[in-house]
Amino acid sequence: MIGRLNHIAIAVPDLAAASAKYRDLLGAHVGQPQPLPEHGVTVVFIDTGNTKVELLEPLGENSPIAAFLAKNPAGGMHHICFEVPDLASAAATLTAGGARILGDGTPRTGAHGLPVLFLHPKDFDGTLIELEQS
Ligand code: CO
Repeated sequence: MIGRLNHIAIAVPDLAAASAKYRDLLGAHVGQPQPLPEHGVTVVFIDTGNTKVELLEPLGENSPIAAFLAKNPAGGMHHICFEVPDLASAAATLTAGGARILGDGTPRTGAHGLPVLFLHPKDFDGTLIELEQS
């Protein structure tokens, strides 16, 4: 079902500092910060060739990563995102198999403008998994 690893998202307390480390110490191609107020984050995309790293910093009052950073003040891996060719079919298969989809179970528009779903981390070994329509 799942295809390419689209991105690995890392929540960071200081986006400028994290971006500088990836650029200056790791020699990565680091993009410009993009505020996504509708998602409650500012994101920096890092293209690593075979996938992307997304550095996420909270934006606004109700950021979905605020609680994560409160528990992990130094930052940490927040989720991984796989591409799937048919999100509705994937959701049906997962739900039938007992996996829980976060929220009301219907896709919403993700940070790349494509439909996404998130799977409950307790059903996947403590990892929050995002599925994005490819
Ligand atoms: Co993501």
